[in-house]
Amino acid sequence: MNRRDFITLFGVGGIASSLPLALAACSPEKSTTTTSKDWQNIGKVAELDKTGQLLNENSPVGSVLVVGTSKAKNLVAVNPTCTHQGCKVNWKATENKFLCPCHKSAFAADGKVLAGPATDPLATYAIKIEGDGVLVKAV
Ligand code: FES
Repeated sequence: MNRRDFITLFGVGGIASSLPLALAACSPEKSTTTTSKDWQNIGKVAELDKTGQLLNENSPVGSVLVVGTSKAKNLVAVNPTCTHQGCKVNWKATENKFLCPCHKSAFAADGKVLAGPATDPLATYAIKIEGDGVLVKAV
C-alpha cells in the first residue's frame, strides 16, 4: 500500500465512520423544550403583591406584568414594554389602565391603545393560576 492508497482508504473510511455522528447531529430530535404556545410558570401566587401585581422581567416568555383589574377582578398579563419607544408601563389601578411614564401613552387592561403616541397594543398573555403557580402563555 502506497501513501496515496493509505490516505484514500483511511480518509474515506474516516468520513464514512463519522457520517452517522454527523447525521445524528443534524437530524431533528424530539424537543423537550417548550414553545411559546405552552403555559409557562412565571411566578407564585404568593408573589402577587398587595395590589395584585407581579412583574417578572426574565420569564420564559419574556417580560410579563400581571395585574388584577378592578372591573372583573381578573388577572391580566401583558408585556409591559411600551410599543412606542420601549419604556416600561405602569398599572394605574384607579383608572384601570396601563400608563407609560415616558410619553404618556395609555393602554387598556387588554393591552389596546387608549392614547398615543403609541399606536400598537401591548402584547398580552393568557393567564391562569394552577396550584401556587401563575402561568401564562402567548396568545
Ligand atoms: Fe411609551 Fe413613548 S415610550 S409613550
